Amino acid sequence: MRARAAATVVLAASALGACDDQIKHLEQRTPFFNTMSWQPSVEAYEERARLPVPGTMPIDGERTYDLMAADTMLVSPISGTEADLARGAELYSQFCTPCHGVTGAGDGSVVGQNRIPDIPLLNIRGELTRGYTDGYIWGMIANGRGLMPPYRRIPAMDRWYLVAYVRQLQAEAMAEEAEAAAAEAAAAEAAASEAAAADTAGAEIPGTGGGQ
Ligand code: HEC
Repeated sequence: MRARAAATVVLAASALGACDDQIKHLEQRTPFFNTMSWQPSVEAYEERARLPVPGTMPIDGERTYDLMAADTMLVSPISGTEADLARGAELYSQFCTPCHGVTGAGDGSVVGQNRIPDIPLLNIRGELTRGYTDGYIWGMIANGRGLMPPYRRIPAMDRWYLVAYVRQLQAEAMAEEAEAAAAEAAAAEAAASEAAAADTAGAEIPGTGGGQ
């Protein structure tokens, strides 16, 4: 009898155009009338997104390191095999040549007036960049710095291949510098012995000075 009375109240309430809250209230008091709209559930946006448990990381995500953390904490996991360098070269030509140039000298196609300013820091094959750790260069690609934008879209492992390739460009630059220095030394030596030969020749010809 009570249920029937309650049902009558519900019907009367809806007939009178009672608002949803009142109907819900009545439904709650009469389990007989339970519907899907009245069930234990979490409404959208009722709870905020769950945060990861402290000390854990997502298996499909990447931990981020700022430049200084990358510099001091990270060590390259690769040895720079031929395959590593080939991958690095491919990535370098896609992402880095426009600014840093094919050899890393900083003479890329977008460098110049009204474009990326032609600053010495663009040269990444020189002594300054050689002095950085692998971790720093990796962090540089991830975070950018100054006018260099971050390239976090390049996956973490690919950044190590890039670092290995930048090291190769630096090694090539050092070999070129050593070759140039050797050529200069050889030229200086040749000039000196030429001068000495001229002196000796002068001494042998009477009347040209030095002899007598
Ligand atoms: C849009 C132009 C641009 C692109 C593309 C770019 N860089 Fe740079 N990069 C710069 C600029 C500008 C600097 C100097 C930053 C500054 O002023 O501090 C720089 C600096 C660097 C340095 C530090 C040089 C030093 O000795 O301080 C490294 C290393 C470097 N870039 C590596 C890379 C690598 C590797 C790539 C490719 C993934 C790349 N960059 C792509 C513009 C670029």
